[in-house]
Amino acid sequence: MYINKLLLTNFRNYDIQEIELCKNINIFYGDNAQGKTNIIEAIYLSSIGKSFRAKRDIELVNIENKENNAIIETEFRKIDRDGKIKLEVSDKKNIYINGIRARKFSEILGNINIVLFSPDDINLFKGAPAKRRKVLDIMISQLRPSYLYNLNLYLRTIEQRNNYLRQIKYEKKSEEMLDIWDEKLADYAEKVYQYRKEFIEKIKEKIVDIHKKITEDNENVKIHFITDCENKEEYLKKLKEDREKDIERGYTGKGIHKDDFIVYVNGKPLNIYGSQGQHRTVLLSLKITELNIIYDEIGEYPILLLDDFMSELDNKRRENLLKNIENIQVIITCTEKMRIKQKEEKIFFVENGRIKVDF
Ligand SMILES: Nc1ncnc2c1ncn2[C@@H]1O[C@H](COP(=O)(O)OP(=O)(O)OP(=O)(O)O)[C@@H](O)[C@H]1O
Ligand SMILES: [Mg+2]
Repeated sequence: MYINKLLLTNFRNYDIQEIELCKNINIFYGDNAQGKTNIIEAIYLSSIGKSFRAKRDIELVNIENKENNAIIETEFRKIDRDGKIKLEVSDKKNIYINGIRARKFSEILGNINIVLFSPDDINLFKGAPAKRRKVLDIMISQLRPSYLYNLNLYLRTIEQRNNYLRQIKYEKKSEEMLDIWDEKLADYAEKVYQYRKEFIEKIKEKIVDIHKKITEDNENVKIHFITDCENKEEYLKKLKEDREKDIERGYTGKGIHKDDFIVYVNGKPLNIYGSQGQHRTVLLSLKITELNIIYDEIGEYPILLLDDFMSELDNKRRENLLKNIENIQVIITCTEKMRIKQKEEKIFFVENGRIKVDF
């Protein structure tokens, strides 16, 4: 699939900007703080409905013209259909899919499929587990719209359970009611677990060969998934065991909100022993794995967004990456003009919220 046109109005540092993308490689280059990542962000918003970096929607509206909405319009082509996504953003957000207003934000998912590399990802395997869960959540929700619905039910229920834990502690409410919350929570947890398990299995299966190819057979990668909720009964048992602790601290200590995965390279945990290059390479393998999983599911490749990523790679790895991404639309940002000669490409120069096609 690919995006053929992007129209930004009053979005970030753009006034009105139309961008016609090519099917294969699109390179946006320019100095720092000119608006390159803003393009990646606009595409990400058209796919996921949320920004990967803005805390509040209002940040997306051009600060010089706050009275008006920011508008992002994206036209895309898939094997079986053309489509258009429009987002109107002010302090709230409206989404239109092919001209029809979406009733739920989640309706946007699964239209434009993407895989994103952002500079933030470099710490994916070292940083907090929440980041790793987010990678899973974003991949799964693009492919299984009901996943996010279940995850949100779980998260809402855990909040209610936490409230009730505090009421037991401070208002001496009865512990019996907690059984009802536990039951509900365990139902949702098991569902979320099943989705995550399905996709972790897919990743495990594919990443080994992909990583071998990239490292020319030098590295063997393994992924180990950690969860408290393999099934409802086990999880209910854990909730019971931890009940006193949970009441004391006023929150639920165990659950799928603590899920995580650990990566091993040649038998050693990457987060402890990995070199910088190994972190980068595993990340690359994980993203290519994601591309392939999405391909298997929907029968075409998602769009690959590489924000500032190419500059991090040496020539050999860059070549290996490109070899792996035949016939994929790629959006690349970088500070130096570069060319990938063997592919169809379009080059854009970005300066102060304006984009010029460069040849
Ligand atoms: N809501 C907004 N209104 C106006 N300008 C904004 C808004 N949000 C961000 N900007 C401006 O956009 C620019 C940052 O854009 P962006 O993050 O795309 O930069 P970049 O080209 O990717 O830079 P780098 O190479 O440093 O990553 C900054 O100049 C910032 O002030
Ligand atoms: Mg940037």
